[in-house]
Amino acid sequence: MCGIVGMIGNRPVARLLVESLKRLEYRGYDSAGVATLVDGALHRRRAAGKLFALETALEAKPLAGDIGIGHTRWATHGPPTVENAHPHVAGKVSVVHNGIIENHQEIRTELVALEIHPESQTDTEIVALLLNKLLDDGATPEEAMRQVMARVTGAFAFVVMMEDCPSTLFAARRASPLAIGYGEGEMFVGSDALALAPLTRRISYLDDGDWAIISADGARVFDHHGAEVERAVTLSAVSGALIGKGNYRHFMEKEMHEHPEAAGYTLFHYNHPSNGGLAMPEMPFDPATLPKLTIVAAGTSSFSGMIAKYWFESLARLPVEVDIASEFRYRDTVLPEGGAAMFISQSGESLDTLMALRHAREQDQHILAIVNVPESTMAREADVVLPTLAGPEIGVASTKAFTGQLVALACLALDWAEKRGTVTPERSAGILKALEHLPVQMAEVLEREHDLVPICHDLSHARDVLYLGRGTSFPIALEGALKLKEISYIHAEGYAAGEMKHGPIALIEDGVPVVIVAPSDQWFEKAISNVTEAMARGGRVVLLSDSDGIARMGNDATWAFEMPDCDPFVAPILYALPVQLISYHTALEKGTDVDQPRNLAKSVTVE
Ligand code: F6R
Repeated sequence: MCGIVGMIGNRPVARLLVESLKRLEYRGYDSAGVATLVDGALHRRRAAGKLFALETALEAKPLAGDIGIGHTRWATHGPPTVENAHPHVAGKVSVVHNGIIENHQEIRTELVALEIHPESQTDTEIVALLLNKLLDDGATPEEAMRQVMARVTGAFAFVVMMEDCPSTLFAARRASPLAIGYGEGEMFVGSDALALAPLTRRISYLDDGDWAIISADGARVFDHHGAEVERAVTLSAVSGALIGKGNYRHFMEKEMHEHPEAAGYTLFHYNHPSNGGLAMPEMPFDPATLPKLTIVAAGTSSFSGMIAKYWFESLARLPVEVDIASEFRYRDTVLPEGGAAMFISQSGESLDTLMALRHAREQDQHILAIVNVPESTMAREADVVLPTLAGPEIGVASTKAFTGQLVALACLALDWAEKRGTVTPERSAGILKALEHLPVQMAEVLEREHDLVPICHDLSHARDVLYLGRGTSFPIALEGALKLKEISYIHAEGYAAGEMKHGPIALIEDGVPVVIVAPSDQWFEKAISNVTEAMARGGRVVLLSDSDGIARMGNDATWAFEMPDCDPFVAPILYALPVQLISYHTALEKGTDVDQPRNLAKSVTVE
């Protein structure tokens, strides 16, 4: 998604803006630009493609100026060309923007009728043109900002710089996140704390509908009624030192190698040895009498929810419904009085999930959020936050945050099962032990990562790949297929193995790879009989199982990757690793842009 930065102070900002934009690269983008004010006049450089193209443009024609704004654009309205890249300039006004202005077409028509013609196809330029028109009509900058905020609809964040105000930046937010950073005699604004990490850790977050006037010595914030308000300044947990690839080729590779830490730290957070058992956050309801849990998320995070459904149902005997956020938010959902709704998100900012959270809030549900970014909007809006301690995730494809989510969910399912009296102390202790053992077993899988390389070499020539699993391995099959599609661009489908004969089996012909996720669990026998059906039709089977499963399968699979023996309850957490690693090594074979796959954004803050 688009990334925004702005700075105002007493030193040249162009290079700092680009450095901040680099820390927002993980969000995904396809063009970039910066603008500064020099002696009260706007200057900008823009480039299509990656940031080095912008750096080249800046080397050729450097930009001076102690005040500036910058942007990485993920194209929504109009292709990723220089003309559509931000900052957009209209007369004396320059704007960078993230999100979507829903009524831009209507405003565009009005402006054109007044002979004001946009140069780009973007919704952003409409904001710049509107502001400039209001200034031309005699409005003060503050009045113009107020009027624009009242006029535009949609989910957005933007930062504005005006020639008439050489010592001021204006920032506004509705639904899309925006953070203000406080320095010494200089101020910053950015899409998240990560963008501002090396510059300052003193951060305040604008609330929905807020807009702000930022000068070198501070910020004045106004809420959606126009009243001046205080927004707390907190010390961000994000540190600039954390953000680097180290010795890894890609952030995704580094982050997969952080699975053991993500799982370990998250478990430690909920099951600290000094507590003598699970210590989950206090709930505003009694889990023993909860009628239903609704879990909502998007993409990989929704697969965590699907796995959790198996856990809550089997262990805590709790009815659970899982939905994807983009559907849930527009459905006429029937939610029980006193029910709980849980939202799972790495970023805590995915717009669909955030809107689904608000939809559930309107229906009087208790709101729980599982997030990896503690300062995110979802974390701030939830009644109860269950953090995952996976650390910043920069690669666009979510990896370690997924296992962090699963560990948090496993702890919660276990805790509620204890409170509902549906689990024996022995089983509870067994599951905790299996969870505690996970980081070591994850490290074992990562040590044998290279055994997957020949398999991935094979897969990289495939046109279609089928992923199958039953029970809690079904969402892992979905995760494997999603990741392969995302970063290697190979068409892949994940299916519940039992569904194969109801349709997808028609896809299997000589040489089609079928990855089967099959730990030795209660579903193993059935999963294997589905595999033999695939093999009988010429499918090339990649079996992910433990030593017992591989022995039971005999030599029938084309490839087998041996996983450590584990309690079936925690198997989906461990089996997330080989499916993610397979997608990574297949993408390496294909030479794709692993960390920033085409068309994708890290945090999807538009609909
Ligand atoms: C897949 C992936 C996406 C995200 C999805 C939700 O590799 O990264 O499918 O899982 O966009 O994002 P969050 O969890 O930030 O809400």
